[in-house]
Amino acid sequence: MARPSDVPIPQEPMSPYPINTEFCDIVCGFGRGSSELGIPTANVPIDQLPSIVEKLPLGVYFGFCRVAKVDSECTRVVKRKDGRSVDYNFGATLNNKDLETWPVVLSIGLNPFYHNKAKTVELHIMHKFSDDFYGAKVKFNILGFIRPELDYTTKEALIKDINTDIEIAKKTLNTPPYSEYSHL
Ligand SMILES: Cc1cc2nc3c(=O)[nH]c(=O)nc-3n(C[C@H](O)[C@H](O)[C@H](O)COP(=O)(O)O)c2cc1C
Repeated sequence: MARPSDVPIPQEPMSPYPINTEFCDIVCGFGRGSSELGIPTANVPIDQLPSIVEKLPLGVYFGFCRVAKVDSECTRVVKRKDGRSVDYNFGATLNNKDLETWPVVLSIGLNPFYHNKAKTVELHIMHKFSDDFYGAKVKFNILGFIRPELDYTTKEALIKDINTDIEIAKKTLNTPPYSEYSHL
């Protein structure tokens, strides 16, 4: 299963990991994760993360995360960068299961396949949520690095690699001592 770009994962998190975040905002990205790739991601602003995150190599990471609702009287409609409108419901419709801790695979990068101009931090949370949750908050840890960010000639090759990343993250996070970092 190992790909040429895969970096060996140590038996336990090694410096600079674990990196622990505070709760940060879930904002909308370009929306292609769900619609084009079938792999939804929650985007978080990099300036709300510990400063070390800015210095990490671009690529794919793994850890655990937990989503929290934000008290809000209203929902808000926000125009996404592709012009489509998205509802910010601040997580109001999430159920108790959705609010548990879940394994996560993260992409920190410029998404060369899509020629993004700015670095994004996107979380693919390994749980089927009951609804979207733009405007909610997420807290997470980063426990290790899987591979550098790559460019692809086809969308299918990108999807295949992300699915491999998910499998590697899932397997690693299931083994102690990684599994012990799930208390957020
Ligand atoms: C685990 C994971 C790995 C990814 N790896 C790459 C990559 O190597 N190259 C790349 O161009 N994009 C990569 N992406 C980013 C996807 O291209 C991105 O999720 C997609 O552009 C959707 O972003 P959007 O929802 O902001 O539109 C990765 C995303 C995830 C979740």
